[in-house]
Amino acid sequence: MNERFLEALRFENTIRPPIWIMRQAGRYLPAYQQIREKHSLIEMFEDPEIIVKVTKMPIDEFGLDAAILFSDILIILKTLGQKVDFQPGIGPVIFPKIKTVEDIKQLQVENVEKSLSFISRAIRTLTQDLNCPLIGFCGGPFTVLSYLLESGNTDKLKTTKRWIYENPEPLKALLNLLTEQTKSYLKMQIDAGVQAIQIFDSWSGCLSLTHFREFAKPYLQILVDFVKDLKIPVLVFSRHSSLYFEDFMDLGPTGISLDGSYPLKPLLTKAQGSLVLQGDLDPELLAFGSQDQVKSQALKILKITSDYPGFVFNLGHGILPMTPVENVRALVETVKTFKRPGLTKQLLEASNKG
Ligand code: CP3
Repeated sequence: MNERFLEALRFENTIRPPIWIMRQAGRYLPAYQQIREKHSLIEMFEDPEIIVKVTKMPIDEFGLDAAILFSDILIILKTLGQKVDFQPGIGPVIFPKIKTVEDIKQLQVENVEKSLSFISRAIRTLTQDLNCPLIGFCGGPFTVLSYLLESGNTDKLKTTKRWIYENPEPLKALLNLLTEQTKSYLKMQIDAGVQAIQIFDSWSGCLSLTHFREFAKPYLQILVDFVKDLKIPVLVFSRHSSLYFEDFMDLGPTGISLDGSYPLKPLLTKAQGSLVLQGDLDPELLAFGSQDQVKSQALKILKITSDYPGFVFNLGHGILPMTPVENVRALVETVKTFKRPGLTKQLLEASNKG
């Protein structure tokens, strides 16, 4: 069993950082596209056999150090009686549409384990089959809420911000409901065997800091505390996680997944010793750069983080669909063949002493 990822989350990792890639299961992989041609996305997300197959694809292809469950942050909306349709060129469209406070009261709250049992079945198979840890995940309540309200129209969160001003209290009731359903969903994933959780609150960093603290952070806090109480490591990601770094630190997660918009070095200093950092190669570089450019940027990150055992190599955001598979291979090879000079020396000294 390859434990490198879990070791890094405990600051026990030494020779090189682990690597996994956000949104690694899908999109850019030809084997994924072959399955995708025959099925709608929702069919794929609800079929345990397909979930298992797609989750394993990037592990078999590149030997990454962690797998992430093939699902979507919006699948939780099924437990509120909502349907999600991923429309090409538009994005996720959710119906029936939530337009008024009355519509919120009409939501049909379902039992999570029952509605999403195909996911726990897939997790049970995966934890037996995989030779590396499996990461479970959920969306941050604010981000899921924004998809629910915008439904296909992600134009700068206009509708969501309108609700913030016009109906803040019903909005908070809806955030509480999403948080409760998400807690059950995370518990279900953990009971089925996932070994770490990542919370994707992609859009919360697009709020003003005041609104972030009122409409995103309290719900993230409930989820982070909930996972920590279950003794499972928890990472938090947002598109501007480095902009609100102190606030994300306040949440007390195991780690923060950085978005790449701020230099790594000062963040490593701030996080020193207590917080795992994950990130933060630019997904555009991986998609459009040459293999040499990818390698040289990866080496830069590896060197900057070489004396930080709590570092996990990843991208600053999800991998883009047009990313060449050979660039991904070059990246993974670069990370896997790297040897940390400082830590290797410490390890040798420790083993000599021992
Ligand atoms: O490695 C993985 O891909 C694991 C599974 C995963 C998916 N979505 C599958 C998926 C994960 C972790 C997600 C997270 C997710 N989904 C986020 C948070 C991360 C981020 O990128 O900000 C968000 C905001 C979503 C919502 C979502 N799902 C959108 C906006 C879309 C359409 C556009 C897009 O990103 O592709 C999806 C569809 C979706 N979810 C696909 C996959 C593989 C696309 C599949 C396809 O088009 O074939």
